[in-house]
Amino acid sequence: MGQVLLWPQARTELDREQIALVLEAWRARSNAYAPYSRFFVGAALRAVRDQKRCIVRGCNVEHVIVNGVHAEQLAVGNMVEQLGANPRPYIQALAVVLATSDPTLPAFPCMACRGIIAEFSQPNTVVLGGRLSEDGQNLVKVAVDTLGALFPSYPQEQAARLSALFDKAREDPRITIAHVQARIAHLRLWCGRNLPPELDKPYGDFLAVRELL
Ligand code: THU
Ligand code: ZN
Repeated sequence: MGQVLLWPQARTELDREQIALVLEAWRARSNAYAPYSRFFVGAALRAVRDQKRCIVRGCNVEHVIVNGVHAEQLAVGNMVEQLGANPRPYIQALAVVLATSDPTLPAFPCMACRGIIAEFSQPNTVVLGGRLSEDGQNLVKVAVDTLGALFPSYPQEQAARLSALFDKAREDPRITIAHVQARIAHLRLWCGRNLPPELDKPYGDFLAVRELL
């Protein structure tokens, strides 16, 4: 499970690529646009696709009225824009760096970001949360965990949503088998053979209903 390492001692515990990712996220933070919250966040992720690896960055971009973009979301968006999504890239590791006055605040991505990251990850995707000193000058801690541990309810939540989609699909011909199969394929990537049991049943029903049409 996760561990919290003090910086600079973390340099001996993390591997070189993980350190590089934290430093990239720190660098991205200097471009953050956060005039309203003054909470500047940087993110970087290492993705692989077709045996090619790349590192992409993101920072938070706020808006005066509507919700802005979180640093992790922009990093995922940049990844898709750079690599394309067919076949889907896979995130090996993601780092986020932020400064807080309150050291009890989490340095990990929020739940919405965990969901977006999960779309391109597997449970063993490494998540690094770098915390800067209050003045933003020094990296003081790095927390390390896996996305699966940070989001243990993800497969069940997705299964529940899929069940709801099956129900809608019975009435809405625009929702095709392909829609449903794509979602199941994503969950299979996460869960391996341990697909939540509620999925098999409605999927079977759905196919049966479609065959009758
Ligand atoms: N923020 C992120 O970009 N990532 C996080 O993990 C936490 C929050 C941003 C959103 C908003 O611009 C600001 O930080 C304050 O919540
Ligand atoms: Zn977020």
